[in-house]
Amino acid sequence: MQRDCPGPTARVLPTRPGGPPLDLSPLLEERGRVDPRIYVDPEVYELEQERVFGRSWLFLAHESQLKRPGDFITTYMGEDPIIVSRQDDGSVAAFLNQCRHRGMRLTQEDAGHTRVFTCTYHGWTYDRGGRLSSVRDERELYRCPVDRDRWSAVRVPRVESFHGFVFGTWDEHAPSFRDSLGDAAWYFEPLLDGVGGTEVIGVTKWTVHCNWKFGAEQFASDGYHFGMSHLSALKALMSQVPGAPRTMQEATPPPDGGRQFKNAQGHGAMMAALPPNLMRGARLAFEPKANEWLLGPRQDFLVRKYGEARASVFIPASNLFPNMGILPAANALRVWQPKGPEQMEVWSYVIADADAPADVKQAIRLGNQRTFGSTGIFEQDDTHNWTEIQRVLKGRRARREIFNMEMDSGTQQDAEGRFPGTTANRSSSEVAARAFYRRWASLLSTEGAP
Ligand code: FES
Ligand SMILES: [Fe+2]
Repeated sequence: MQRDCPGPTARVLPTRPGGPPLDLSPLLEERGRVDPRIYVDPEVYELEQERVFGRSWLFLAHESQLKRPGDFITTYMGEDPIIVSRQDDGSVAAFLNQCRHRGMRLTQEDAGHTRVFTCTYHGWTYDRGGRLSSVRDERELYRCPVDRDRWSAVRVPRVESFHGFVFGTWDEHAPSFRDSLGDAAWYFEPLLDGVGGTEVIGVTKWTVHCNWKFGAEQFASDGYHFGMSHLSALKALMSQVPGAPRTMQEATPPPDGGRQFKNAQGHGAMMAALPPNLMRGARLAFEPKANEWLLGPRQDFLVRKYGEARASVFIPASNLFPNMGILPAANALRVWQPKGPEQMEVWSYVIADADAPADVKQAIRLGNQRTFGSTGIFEQDDTHNWTEIQRVLKGRRARREIFNMEMDSGTQQDAEGRFPGTTANRSSSEVAARAFYRRWASLLSTEGAP
């Protein structure tokens, strides 16, 4: 049995005037103790913007959203607004959605197609790559030409595509995106690949009044809540799935089944141990057309390309550090967009095999909406828990009480070698949550290169 070694000593972080300093060492040392001020403290939040979102690879867009040169979408890296746009040479560029004159947002649209971005405040214009191309009344109003290099939009220095999923980082010296996955690539690559490639077939966004880490932590690690929080949803849906279990005992995963993956980069994934008949339903649409495709042509493709072992691992939920959740069971991809310490936006993408027939895509879309859309039958359970915790933390006394994250402190390599990396031998574990926080605390505690 392998235990993780203690990490570096945490810097003690300042907190609000008069409060005790925040000690991150329990997170670094995997002791399973969480100080809930990490969910409410504005200084922690600011530092997190700088050192976590300022240095990690972050999901920006999918290439299927940027089909032609001039197509663009807008998103965020932490709270920094970003334009992602397809260039004339086919590459993808990302730059701050901020005019260099007085800081106005260059475009307020979610997505579109354009030749140039013209600022609506005074009319400076930028090309598709963010380069300043013209300054309104420049000859009359400026003594010398405005330096185009000096005053172009700020480019995100590293942008990489992985199976069509475009990621960016502000850290010029970061390892490649693929290398940043480490041994998590074994798990995540088949999830992001698809027949004919992957396509985004829907995007919805909603606000949740809680810290972004509640979503990330749960997707990385929390198999424990499933048989409690989602019990009534599960019961309601069971009757819809042909051949599904009829008793709750049959339907809920055994506490000692499945596995959980974690790594030093903070990525986490749960591998389910569901009864085979529920597993069919859990692909998830509870829509026969979608299930036929997912368990037929898609599964065949995965077996051919990645082999039986990788193709047959069923991952209900996972999180790519820091804020990208993947919920293969609902063909869903999430970005937990931070909006202050006590609020996030959930950006929910429905993904499908590009070559799936139109009626399959529609079934996938429907299944996603019913289960994990903003009002989905499972989504509401999670949202309720997260927002209630955040409300509890309004309490001056309540936010001083340390949380317990001690479950299943032993981790091990898989003796039969079926699962690479470090895995816990059950999906109801907290090892991936601790790995997530360990990475988070380590970034927060170090300046410069992580
Ligand atoms: S703020 Fe953009 S042109 Fe002035
Ligand atoms: Fe859940």
